[in-house]
Order: sequence, then C-alpha cells, then structure tokens
Amino acid sequence: MKISKGLFWSLVVFFTSSFLFGAVVNWIEIPLSKVIESWFRAFIFACFVALLMSTPILLLRDIVGGVKKVYFRLTSKEETSVKAFRSRRDFLSSAAVTVGAVPFTSLLAGIGGKYNYKIHNYELTFANLPKAFDGFKVVQLSDLHLGSFDDLDAVAEGLDLVNEQQPDLLLFTGDMVNNKSFEADPFISMLEKLKAPYGKYSVLGNHDYATYNDDFDSEQARADVECLIGLQEQMGFRNLRNESIKITSGDDYFQLVGVENWGTGRFLKAGDLNRASKGLNSDVFTLLMSHDPSHWEAEVIGHNHRFDLTLSGHTHGFQYGIEVAGIQWSPSKFRYPQWAGMYEKNERLINVNRGFGFLGYPGRFGIWPEITVITLKSA
Ligand SMILES: [Fe+2]
Repeated sequence: MKISKGLFWSLVVFFTSSFLFGAVVNWIEIPLSKVIESWFRAFIFACFVALLMSTPILLLRDIVGGVKKVYFRLTSKEETSVKAFRSRRDFLSSAAVTVGAVPFTSLLAGIGGKYNYKIHNYELTFANLPKAFDGFKVVQLSDLHLGSFDDLDAVAEGLDLVNEQQPDLLLFTGDMVNNKSFEADPFISMLEKLKAPYGKYSVLGNHDYATYNDDFDSEQARADVECLIGLQEQMGFRNLRNESIKITSGDDYFQLVGVENWGTGRFLKAGDLNRASKGLNSDVFTLLMSHDPSHWEAEVIGHNHRFDLTLSGHTHGFQYGIEVAGIQWSPSKFRYPQWAGMYEKNERLINVNRGFGFLGYPGRFGIWPEITVITLKSA
C-alpha cells in the first residue's frame, strides 16, 4: 500500500531533517524563542513516537512479504493465494499508518494541553486527626519544572487557581527545576504570592539535585541544592530534609514529615524515613511528603511509624493517556503501580499528583496539569 510507504518515508525525512536542523541550531548557537523551541521539541517527539510505533509493523509486513515471495516462487502457488497475501499486506500497512498517526496527531495536539490546569478534590476522614483540623484544607503542588515553561502568563493564571482554593497548608512535593536552581529566578515573586496561613512546605525531587547536567561536579551540585533551598525560602517555602514539624492549632497538632528523594531503580535514595520519623507521636495523624511514589510500597507502608497519608508526584502520568468516564490509562502504569490519583493499601493512603509543569515533551494529552485539594475530616 503506497500511502503507508509515503507516510513512513515522509516521517523519516521530517525526523532526520529536524534532527539535523536541531544540530545546526545548537552548533552555531542560534537563539530560539521558548515557544518555537517547544513546538520544535514536540514535533520531533511526535515523529519519534510515531516511527517507534509503526516501524515494527512495517518491518513485520516486509519480513512476512519477503518470506512469502520466496515461498510462492519455490512452490508456484495459485494467484488466489497471492491475492490473500496482498490483502494481508494492505491490512498491515493500514495498521502501521493508524498506529503511527494516533500518537503523532495527539502529541501535536497536546502542545495546547500543558496549561490546561485541573483541580482534583478529595475529602479524607481520619480517626486520629484532632477535631481542631476538621475541614482543614491541604493544597498540593508538585513537579513545577520551572525551566520548561514558555508562557509566564499561563503559569501565573494556574498559580492564581491555587490561591482561589484558599489553602490552609500548601505543600510542594518536589522537582521545582529541571537541572539547575537558576531556572527558579523568574518565578520567585509568582510563587511568593501563594498564601497559606499554616505555612508552605516543600521537599526535594530527583531533578532538584543538579545532577542532570554535565557542567557541575559533585561539590557544585551540592552548592546548587543549597541555592535552590535558599530561593524556596524567598518564595516562603520551608524545605523539609528528612525531618518533621508539628502543624498546630491551639493545643492540638498533627505531624508533617518531609523526606529527600527516594526512588527505586536508578533514582537517588537520599530519603531517610528513620531519621525523619524520630520523636513522632504514634497516636497522632501523620502526613508524609515524598517525591517518588515508588518509595511508598518499598518503605513507607511497612514502616514502624504509621504514615496515614503520603503525598507524591514524579510520574507526571507520562503527560499522556486517557482519563474519561472511569477509564484511566497511561504508559505510566507500566512503570509505576501508583501513577496518578489516590490509592489505598494497608489502610494507608497515597496521592500521586500528576504535576503542574512538564518535562521533555512540552505538552500534555489526556493527563492534564494538576492542583490537588484535600479536605481533612476528623472521624
Ligand atoms: Fe518531575
């Protein structure tokens, strides 16, 4: 089928020329605006995924075709068999076009989805939550990835939504930047404007350690983390590094714990639950902030101290998927058992925030940027 061959080769040409264009732009250091860069990156990514999906089918078609041709030549089979072979070949060609076209078009359409902020509301009841906190509103932000944004007005509108929720407590669960702390500079006043009477607290995500660039040695990376924490203080966030604090109302309190990044596989394991939970009261409601949700099953739910509710982020829901009419699917589910939304196990809860920003692919399709609002209720 000629159309699939045409599409395949046009994608190859587009992808190769885009790659060469990117290399040339970098080589002679032509400054691109953030918006053009985003379109450029999204286009390259869409081409790459389309090719990744359709190429195996086209290869299968050609391998099967080659084998059949040899078979027909050797056995001199009738023309009807040849017709059946051709219709199978056409079917595989059409399948390759469809399988490539769906991610290609949706990933390009998703460029407009990266500022499509959604509020996710939950009401959670806990028997060990003091009555003074009945109706207490916790707002969670995660994965800002400030270095990715190409439209500051759109970000400001998204952050206005945070204040509109009138949070009592604002919690940020990591990945403020992509690579280096300076990415946060243009956003200090914007994030400083976020208000929460019981405070603003944060933890570090894997991208906040300045280890994803080739410029810094380990000492410079450590210094950059301190710089980022300083910038967060200017924004009004207190960063919790394997420590806990009490959120108090009169004589009552609950416990807020924040750990450094801890993730399975290749990810940094700096989170120290034992250190963070020293001195905690086991009878009092405890809320944990831990960036990577893989920490939850690996260490949190089996820990001596009971962490009633954990707040995480990290997955971004892969910024691509479906969440419609009870159907929830994303490639993210193949990597993370808890990848978007609220989960319960052993009477412990975890919320995996889909992230406010984006990384790599400058868009979102189906898994929109999130602000979580949790109203705590005392049983
Ligand atoms: Fe992230």
